[in-house]
Amino acid sequence: MNRPAKAPQSRFTRRSTAEEVTEGIDLKGKTILITGCNSGLGFETMRVLAARGATIIGAARTRVKAQGAAQKIDGEVIPVACELSDLDGVAACADEINVMRRPIDGLICNAGIMALPELQQKYGLEMQFLTNHLGHFVLVNRLLKRVKEAPAGRVVMVSSLGHYTTVAGGINFDNLSGAKRYVPFMFYGQSKLANLLMSNELSRKLEGTRATSNAIHPGIIMTPLSRNIGSLQTNLAGILSWPVSRSVEQGAATQCYVAASPALEGVSGHYFADCNPARMSAHAQSREMAARLWAVSEELAADYL
Ligand SMILES: NC(=O)c1ccc[n+]([C@@H]2O[C@H](COP(=O)([O-])OP(=O)(O)OC[C@H]3O[C@@H](n4cnc5c(N)ncnc54)[C@H](OP(=O)(O)O)[C@@H]3O)[C@@H](O)[C@H]2O)c1
Repeated sequence: MNRPAKAPQSRFTRRSTAEEVTEGIDLKGKTILITGCNSGLGFETMRVLAARGATIIGAARTRVKAQGAAQKIDGEVIPVACELSDLDGVAACADEINVMRRPIDGLICNAGIMALPELQQKYGLEMQFLTNHLGHFVLVNRLLKRVKEAPAGRVVMVSSLGHYTTVAGGINFDNLSGAKRYVPFMFYGQSKLANLLMSNELSRKLEGTRATSNAIHPGIIMTPLSRNIGSLQTNLAGILSWPVSRSVEQGAATQCYVAASPALEGVSGHYFADCNPARMSAHAQSREMAARLWAVSEELAADYL
């Protein structure tokens, strides 16, 4: 498939809601997998895309959480458990989805954690890198066959403007454990840069197929994402960010738009904010860093791919 060289502009703005940007789009017959479907942007994304007719595979840390979220909305939802920091669990989730034998039209990697105050590690890796990046890396790779089977499968990586505030060097491959130095927000930034680099590298790997991959920044939205930074800091951040923050309905717009809009047919390897192409950091544009991250991730997750 020929890819458009440029991502098109849309008429939508930071005030547009997920309902508005998907108005008139018929997703009947399509299957869209969303991680983190029980809270914040993931829940709103699930609600709106289900209302547009898609069958949602709603992933949460536990099946009970996914079921609880599914019960709150209208539409068809298949609840699955996907604890992203447990790579055996991620593999099992992908296997469960694979046996459904459904082409996956959209895979929205939305779940995430932010700024764990103390260093947490598993598999010798810092927890935000593991959860936000490596868990999704395993999930996407194990389901890529199903994405490619769809007429125009789309991977959407929910990154962040926070990818700009990462550790020195972008991805510090010599300190993925965080043991040498741990700075909560910079490790969040590193994990969000990893989401963006992964999308860019995946886009290159998908050249010549019908499938695409793009990354997004949803805006600044008050959600439980800030649960780790303490109520005082959260309240302060809420006040300071008030002029630029938006509602959850608006925050879910860009990922819904990039997953579903016919205007983005064949568009791949881009980064969107406010439903429009946005500028990514210099690190995010590095092909070398993206290729290295992919290779290192393959090594780290070798037993689960
Ligand atoms: N809100 C913002 O201002 C903002 C800005 C830029 C980017 N983002 C990105 O947007 C995405 C959604 O965030 P949000 O604001 O909607 O936050 P949220 O309400 O806290 O939702 C995060 C979701 O991720 C899930 N999750 C966390 N750890 C997980 C794990 N180990 N395994 C599986 N699922 C896990 C959470 O499940 P539990 O509820 O069970 O913990 C929840 O469903 C994140 O990737 C975030 O980085 C948000």
